[in-house]
Amino acid sequence: MPELLDWYDTPLYYDIIFDADTPKEAAFLEALHERYGRAGKSRQLLEPACGSGRLVSEMARRGWKVSGFDGNARMLDFAKDRLKQQGLKARIWEDWMQSFELPKVQTFDFAHCLVSTFKYLLKEQDALACLQRTAAVLKPGAIFALGVHLTDYSSQKEEHERWVAERHGIKVTCNTHTWSADRKKRLEDLRTRLRIQDNNRRHVQETRWQFRTYNAAQMRALLAKVLAFELVASYDFTYDLLSPRELDDSYSDVVLVLKKK
Ligand SMILES: C[S@@+](CC[C@H](N)C(=O)[O-])C[C@H]1O[C@@H](n2cnc3c(N)ncnc32)[C@H](O)[C@@H]1O
Repeated sequence: MPELLDWYDTPLYYDIIFDADTPKEAAFLEALHERYGRAGKSRQLLEPACGSGRLVSEMARRGWKVSGFDGNARMLDFAKDRLKQQGLKARIWEDWMQSFELPKVQTFDFAHCLVSTFKYLLKEQDALACLQRTAAVLKPGAIFALGVHLTDYSSQKEEHERWVAERHGIKVTCNTHTWSADRKKRLEDLRTRLRIQDNNRRHVQETRWQFRTYNAAQMRALLAKVLAFELVASYDFTYDLLSPRELDDSYSDVVLVLKKK
């Protein structure tokens, strides 16, 4: 029987699975900042819900002054340990996307939040609060890169994704199952099973959770309520700066580029 737990309480296993794309994502984020944002000498960066800090470390290594927060203290401890091991610095604190407060008065040149993390905000008021709070701490002209998976309500198919990754003799197989969305409630149920082979120990852990759902029109409607942001571009997950796309329902994984007015 799988052990039921929040997979963010085991940051190492999360990090092993998601770290493979970190350099590619960091390079794309920097390219977005250069193309659409407040490119210049000041490089103050905010990552709401920074998790295990894979991008915190990578962006700090690239010369950014990174601030990041997350609701899970174990993820943050992992992020701090890695920064220390790598001789890097960043400001990290425990907080919530919908209600965060900065530890000191500060404004940022860039912000990002990838991996559909924004969809953990299950109520519209929380999603709005997150966008408004982020806009409020960005300098005019700075961008917020927001990565989300859009929902195709016409599909009744359950979705399944599988990743396998390994680090220092620990092999993690991640199977994520997404049930078809409830259009009325704007919710979808997900289950992640991690199969972990940690040297001689094998175990399986399972997390169940929900996401708020958005199709392109619902995302546009939400963004229209945040007057401080303008949607200036959208991209798919090929991360090709030269190939921006319309925000529509023809593709599901989207990076929105929101510019602070
Ligand atoms: C998929 S991970 C993304 C982490 C990181 N941004 C990355 O790209 O690897 C989602 C993170 O969101 C955090 N989280 C979920 N809901 C949150 C909320 N309302 N406020 C703050 N953090 C939240 C979880 O603890 C987890 O660390």
